[in-house]
Amino acid sequence: MKRVLFVCLGNICRSPAAEGVFRHQLSAAGLEKRFLVDSAGTGGWHTGKRADPRMRAAAARRGLDLTSRARQLDAADLEHFDHILTMDAANLAAVQRLAQHVKAGGASRLAVVEPLVRYCQRGTPGEVPDPYYGGEQGFELVLDLLEDACAGLLQALLRSQA
Ligand code: 4NP
Repeated sequence: MKRVLFVCLGNICRSPAAEGVFRHQLSAAGLEKRFLVDSAGTGGWHTGKRADPRMRAAAARRGLDLTSRARQLDAADLEHFDHILTMDAANLAAVQRLAQHVKAGGASRLAVVEPLVRYCQRGTPGEVPDPYYGGEQGFELVLDLLEDACAGLLQALLRSQA
């Protein structure tokens, strides 16, 4: 069982969508029992909320049901998960800071932390851009990126398990 956590800032737009896209791909491949999937935000302002309605609507148009509730990343996540995938440079820096802190506390085994866009196959975007303050098209772009990156991630994780 591989444990995979997607992280963004608020856990109401990008990371719940990544979680939904990855779950959908796992289920299409009959692999859901081999993975534990979750998402979290580096900030806690939206804790307990469902994903942003604009993201839920864009996801629903692609047949994805986003059901997660926002939560804030915490130190235990660094030890509980095998892979943490971040959306942008700020998320990556925040998770790496927390990882340093957890490591300094004596943890022996920490998640591999890396940008999700590393797994994009159709291009080399620098980040999954924050769609929160933009228009509807931003949500479509995020979903396009996530579908590509999550497919690449799944292939890489399956290769590493082989
Ligand atoms: P997310 O988007 O990090 O993709 O969930 C955001 C959600 C909320 C805020 C910023 C980004 N906010 O400032 O409240």
